[in-house]
Amino acid sequence: MNFLFKKLNSVNNPKSVHGIYPYRGKISGKDASLIIEEINSKFKIKQLLDPFCGTGTINFECQKKFIKNIGIDLNPVAINIAKSKINQKNIKLELENFEKIKNKSFKKKNIKVSPLFLKYFHKNTAYRIFQYNEYLDEMNDYIKGCYFGAIALSARACNHYKWTSNIVGKIIKPFNEIDFDKIFYQKIIKHQIKTKKISKIKLANSLDINKVVLKNSINCVITSPPYFNALDYSAYHNQFILDLLKINKKSLKKNLFQSLKDYEINFIEFFKNLDKVLDKKSLIVFIVGGTKRKYKTKNISLSGSEFFIKISPFKLINVYKRKYTNTTSTNIIDKINKTSREEEIIVWKNF
Ligand SMILES: C[S@@+](CC[C@H](N)C(=O)[O-])C[C@H]1O[C@@H](n2cnc3c(N)ncnc32)[C@H](O)[C@@H]1O
Repeated sequence: MNFLFKKLNSVNNPKSVHGIYPYRGKISGKDASLIIEEINSKFKIKQLLDPFCGTGTINFECQKKFIKNIGIDLNPVAINIAKSKINQKNIKLELENFEKIKNKSFKKKNIKVSPLFLKYFHKNTAYRIFQYNEYLDEMNDYIKGCYFGAIALSARACNHYKWTSNIVGKIIKPFNEIDFDKIFYQKIIKHQIKTKKISKIKLANSLDINKVVLKNSINCVITSPPYFNALDYSAYHNQFILDLLKINKKSLKKNLFQSLKDYEINFIEFFKNLDKVLDKKSLIVFIVGGTKRKYKTKNISLSGSEFFIKISPFKLINVYKRKYTNTTSTNIIDKINKTSREEEIIVWKNF
């Protein structure tokens, strides 16, 4: 079995549903679509699993192609965004839900805004966000995702759009006052795309994969896993959403595969449990960064594929390496530096 994995000229499509929320480490929708198609054309996918699904990019692209799939992530911010993509109703119903909450929220008075929001947002924008927050439980999944996306966008806007994807959190006073209702509405319109719900999205620790996914029910895994000492999934814009959801950042981080100390042990255990949910004939695909990172001691640096090949119990088919220039328009620093990203696609089989 061999794959081609064509090179993409542009991985950027901000108007797509995947632009709802700026989740760090998000894979490009176009890239995910291409990889799924290539795999599915040579190996019929019965049910796919993304055990580190983040905002459900791979799951949504499967859903668009009517491929059954499951997504798991431990970060509630990501899970909310993933659900918002896959559970979208028709736009008329979504707008009804939005208008109803908008009208009610205006009337809510004497709301307490959290210190974190007062630190980063114009006080009137923050107040409006917290008025909506009173009705979080009444928001449809899609509206909730757009609400979180509008919060992230307003954070940048209050700080004069000076935040790039690499610099988040620089306070630039005096804050801009932002019309949150307008930003929220525009998000709902911009990212709408209704698909037939096929994906199943679950909030769980992938270490327990064999407890949340049926034995032998998966014949294809495609994922972009977290990388050691890389992104902090409780930081950036996520800190605002975690604050609203009253989720403790420290306790979330403790269970994420992130710190160098437990990373290898966690992945060895994960692979063992993953094996239990796989069909006899399965493909496992990891999309990882090609940049070498310091590993364990200062003298060893490993790329994603070098690390995972070392510890995976599966039979390697190939590692496909691709390079592309990051074309994200908001990412000014990358644009100036013409940063090129290297991606490695590791393909294993278990038969
Ligand atoms: C590179 S990101 C995946 C991004 C995703 N492909 C997307 O497009 O949004 C890796 C994800 O792994 C998740 N993660 C880290 N440790 C985990 C664990 N123990 N169980 C489940 N998910 C975990 C993080 O929360 C993060 O969302």
